[in-house]
Amino acid sequence: MINIPSNSPFSDKENEWLQGYYAGLESQVLEKYKNGNENSDLKTISILFGTQTGNSEIVAREAEKVAKKAGLTPTVLDLSECETQTLISSPRLLIVTSTYGEGEMPDNVIELWNKCSELDNNFYEKVNYSVLALGDTSYEKFCEAGKLWDLHLNEKGGKRVLDCVECDVDFEEPSRRWIKEIIPAMTEVQAENEKSLTIVDAKENRTDQEKNWSRNNPYLAKLNKKIKLSKKGSGKEIIHYEIDLGESQLSYKPGDIVNIFSRNDDEYVSLLLDSLKCDGSEVIYVENLDEKKDLKYLLESYYEIRKPSKDLLNLFYLLSKDSEFCSIYEDNDKSKLTDFLHGMDTLDLIEKFNHVPLNAIEFCRLCKPLSARAYSISSSIDVHPNEVHITVASVRWEKNKRVHKGVCSTFLADILNKNEDLGIYFSTNNNFRIPENGEKNMIMIGPGTGIAPFRSFLQQREFNKCEGENWLFFGDRNKNYDYIYESEILGFQKRGVLNKIDLAWSRDQDEKIYVQDLLIKNKKEIFGWIQNGSHIYVCGDALYMAKDVNKALINIISTEGSLSYEDAADYLNDLKNNNRYSLDVY
Ligand SMILES: Cc1cc2nc3c(=O)[nH]c(=O)nc-3n(C[C@H](O)[C@H](O)[C@H](O)COP(=O)(O)OP(=O)(O)OC[C@H]3O[C@@H](n4cnc5c(N)ncnc54)[C@H](O)[C@@H]3O)c2cc1C
Ligand SMILES: Cc1cc2nc3c(=O)[nH]c(=O)nc-3n(C[C@H](O)[C@H](O)[C@H](O)COP(=O)(O)O)c2cc1C
Repeated sequence: MINIPSNSPFSDKENEWLQGYYAGLESQVLEKYKNGNENSDLKTISILFGTQTGNSEIVAREAEKVAKKAGLTPTVLDLSECETQTLISSPRLLIVTSTYGEGEMPDNVIELWNKCSELDNNFYEKVNYSVLALGDTSYEKFCEAGKLWDLHLNEKGGKRVLDCVECDVDFEEPSRRWIKEIIPAMTEVQAENEKSLTIVDAKENRTDQEKNWSRNNPYLAKLNKKIKLSKKGSGKEIIHYEIDLGESQLSYKPGDIVNIFSRNDDEYVSLLLDSLKCDGSEVIYVENLDEKKDLKYLLESYYEIRKPSKDLLNLFYLLSKDSEFCSIYEDNDKSKLTDFLHGMDTLDLIEKFNHVPLNAIEFCRLCKPLSARAYSISSSIDVHPNEVHITVASVRWEKNKRVHKGVCSTFLADILNKNEDLGIYFSTNNNFRIPENGEKNMIMIGPGTGIAPFRSFLQQREFNKCEGENWLFFGDRNKNYDYIYESEILGFQKRGVLNKIDLAWSRDQDEKIYVQDLLIKNKKEIFGWIQNGSHIYVCGDALYMAKDVNKALINIISTEGSLSYEDAADYLNDLKNNNRYSLDVY
């Protein structure tokens, strides 16, 4: 049995894995020696992924399979569980990472990333690497995290085997191409003294069924229940959906995400067909599918036709004569462009730029595939066996005398009926978990639909009979109309599961009150909870709420802990790095 030295460069988690699995691996390695293989035949490759909702891990696992087939010995690890030394533990390194926030690393990779900035210039001199970046072109800093890794590895002496590949939301095809190219290239890399060290990942033990349902193979689940939560008079429509997991054997943990496929509504498709001067029967070849499909099907079910793609905007810029749009586009000023486009969907733009020639084939070429939408799971599977619940705000707004609708939320609200099927798959969200130690307290901040994962957390903590206390900050516009899950919340309170609750109703009085104001109001107690080891969770709006809550928490730590603002921000960052401050914001 091999002992991992206490001063090894690996994290506790890696050490744990190594100790647990080394025995098995050792016998495999010995077997190789028995068969006369030299240690240098064992070509290792580290495949490290940085993820928030699991896409990068899917790609990393795909790369792992191909690497094994090519005779390499892959190690797949979450970057959040790596030390800087892990990055150089093999001469072959692949990094697959998404980007979050506004061009940032996934939350739990930030700590490692900060450490990387202090590395020597030749740190990666023995490393041959390539980076695959996942992102979304609708964000200003497209694939920024991947670009940063690529640059960093190169600047610190790494040898770039293949240029960084940047993937949009339809990442499958480009990532497959990257894997197909990079794995053979990595097998060509020769290195001396390779360590016959590999880590087998516990996740390999997932059941075959669980592995099967994915983005590429969603499970067709049945809608069991649809309950409107917002009351009559509310300016919002929030609906609770209960989905039956049938024979899927799918499971999830509180904090996980369910992704839902939907389709565009008929009325909008008809309007779009009219504006393209087509009747829908036109047959179009789709390269990604390598198939011909009729236009009506493509617009209904395959393409993202509400939100204009960057490529479509680019075409309007190149061919339109609209001087206001062209000068904004040229200036590359994100906020001006956002203001200009505010509330406009693809149809509005086609009508606005109707002098730009656009046929159906060209239009389809410029559209992105319709992606699944992510929803925070609002149930515990222990309390609701074989079901998953979600809490969804229907997205609707009025513009150009037409009601505009969000694709998925209104598909669920208006199109999908009870007992009908919908395609789903789960994403794990290991950054957003109830504390392993049930005695730890939780502070949950989630106005609006942000309450969703906290319903799941509370159900699970009650089921697990956890002794830790729970404090919820919730709110919305008006108590009378928007107090969703009120009776369940009262039930949690009565049964002693929810120990404290603070409600912010922004429009029930003259002055606006938000959750961040209630945090400040309770600053002494909040700081006391933090000092006692409480975990803090924030869910909901990323644009304003999460930023204001972050500021409020820094202020509380600064005033109550007598720290400068900067030191308080570091303190909060440390909580984040130690999984005690977790965000699920969108
Ligand atoms: C990790 C994660 C968890 C999430 N959890 C939840 C959840 O629990 N509950 C939930 O409801 N949502 C949740 N969301 C958001 C959800 O994924 C969808 O983005 C949301 O339902 C809208 O999708 P849609 O298809 O209906 O709208 P889309 O077709 O995607 O349209 C949305 C777009 O419409 C435009 N728009 C929206 N409102 C207006 C307006 N008033 N005026 C002008 N333009 C507007 C904006 O450009 C916006 O980007 C989550 C997102 C993530 C990433
Ligand atoms: C709140 C949020 C912020 C995001 N910010 C960016 C961004 O700044 N740049 C980008 O290219 N993609 C951004 N994305 C898109 C993700 O990187 C993309 O969806 C990716 O496929 C997610 O992969 P993962 O599941 O491995 O985390 C963002 C997504 C969300 C939900």
